Amino acid sequence: MDDKATIQTQSRYNRIAPVYDLMEGIIERFAFRRWRERLWSQVDGNRVLEVGVGTGKNVSYYPSGVQVTAVDLSEKMLERAQRRVQELDIKADLCLMDAQRLAFPDAVFDAAVATFVFCSVPDPVLGLQELGRVVRSGGQILLLEHVRVNKPVIGKLMDLLDPFVVRLMGPHINRRTAENVKKAGLEIERVEELVPGGLVKLVVARAKQGQN
Ligand SMILES: C[S@@+](CC[C@H](N)C(=O)[O-])C[C@H]1O[C@@H](n2cnc3c(N)ncnc32)[C@H](O)[C@@H]1O
Repeated sequence: MDDKATIQTQSRYNRIAPVYDLMEGIIERFAFRRWRERLWSQVDGNRVLEVGVGTGKNVSYYPSGVQVTAVDLSEKMLERAQRRVQELDIKADLCLMDAQRLAFPDAVFDAAVATFVFCSVPDPVLGLQELGRVVRSGGQILLLEHVRVNKPVIGKLMDLLDPFVVRLMGPHINRRTAENVKKAGLEIERVEELVPGGLVKLVVARAKQGQN
């Protein structure tokens, strides 16, 4: 890893790893939990990649019998995910890896999942292209993401606040993730708005037939 923005992202998440679960405790309980369940209930396939596993908040939703490989850029976040996997006695392979340069051959996964990750990946289109490469043709790519709200005043406000939020916490608050999915050459199957105004979206896309 040599890119400055990627190193900065990694160190931001290493820094907030000890307090990450605490920071998100309330919203996790009242919203994220439900959305994670919704996403994982739609995952189709036996070999699944989770990108940006973080502290392992999705681990308890992994469908039984599915072989999950989970990666993250931050070793401190990953350590917590590893602990969670062991405590819950879940079988998953965890490794330190950059979503922008996945060390997997083409088309080895049936599906890929990321939750609240493409707000932080420095080059989201490159990361999404990587998902399209490692997922078999026609395989699912499921994303749960907070995105820029498409309203003139709120959208502009998100643009203005974005540099401060990034420095303080890591994620961008003004990413246009559904548009990035298209730019990455993936085929969007469905976009669900999980909160009014479209602040949080569940995007279901597919690696294009013939792409791999
Ligand atoms: C906001 S956290 C979300 C963690 C987890 N997915 C969740 O739902 O709680 C974003 C995670 O993405 C990881 N991340 C950011 N950029 C990444 C990259 N280029 N490759 C892999 N992981 C990355 C961060 O280290 C962090 O753990």
